[in-house]
Amino acid sequence: MKVFISGNIAAEGINELKANDIEITQWTADKPITAKELIDACQQHDALISVGRNKINAEFLQACKHLKVIALHSVGYDQVDVATAKKLNIPIGNTPGVLSAATADTAFLLMLAVSRKAFFLHKKIIAGDWKAYQPTVELGIELKGKTLGVLGLGNIGIEMAKKCIALYQMPVVYHNRSQNPEAEREIGAKYVSFEELLAQSDVLTVHTALTPETQGLFTLDVFKQMKSNAIFINTARGGIHNETDLIEALQQKLIWGAGLDVTNPEPMDKDNPLLQMENVAVLPHIGSATEETRTAMAKIIAQNILAGLKGEPLPYPVD
Ligand code: DGY
Repeated sequence: MKVFISGNIAAEGINELKANDIEITQWTADKPITAKELIDACQQHDALISVGRNKINAEFLQACKHLKVIALHSVGYDQVDVATAKKLNIPIGNTPGVLSAATADTAFLLMLAVSRKAFFLHKKIIAGDWKAYQPTVELGIELKGKTLGVLGLGNIGIEMAKKCIALYQMPVVYHNRSQNPEAEREIGAKYVSFEELLAQSDVLTVHTALTPETQGLFTLDVFKQMKSNAIFINTARGGIHNETDLIEALQQKLIWGAGLDVTNPEPMDKDNPLLQMENVAVLPHIGSATEETRTAMAKIIAQNILAGLKGEPLPYPVD
């Protein structure tokens, strides 16, 4: 059996596949594979490990109907046309659970960095612009006791909330498509409407999937409904906020600051005004980028591929 990998994954996953006599071909160029190159490569393979944002759309799936399984190197699957995959009987696997802690760490890191202007001040030192200790400038805001608002209280949102409760005793409000009574019991979070989430949050952290409902959800109108001292954090998908509107909201001081691990587009243009703003921190989609998490993801991928190639149900299927 032959597997194509559209990037690189941790050695543990590759070794597991090789130990099962799977032949592996990897995309090694330092630019992402194009849609056509991916279709061409998959013709000679039985399965695909999709790394990054390959579009697994109807066109790709029709051209690669022969694939026995597609394993995503992500928990998110907004890049996949799941309905078409189902129709064509191509099982799709993802990597749930194992990246929650690392991604929540990234959200927490951004929250803290924004609240103390850390990225901006770091750049100021590098530029030689830090001249003297001054008691009334470069002031941040404290987080203790502030209200955390979570949009999408799933595994990652719960991990983020736990950190904020433990370290800063932050009360938690959340909004989901449906209530999460188990999480409410576990962390004492309170369910509120989306409008209340905007109105009450001092830090609003986004952990929802990118869906037609959440695509472009954070517009200027939405930012206007937030507190003027609020911090907006997005480690989910860049498509959930409108980046032009976010820039305007920050320039007009409708909100206090923003921390982004995901942007739209990715990579972010180096001249994006967000990169020059004091109260903004931007990272290059590193939510799950720890040795431990990427190893765990690669192991799950190997399990999904092995099961799919045998025609067995995937242990981590996208439903
Ligand atoms: C995920 O797992 O969905 C990460 O954002 C990587 O794409």
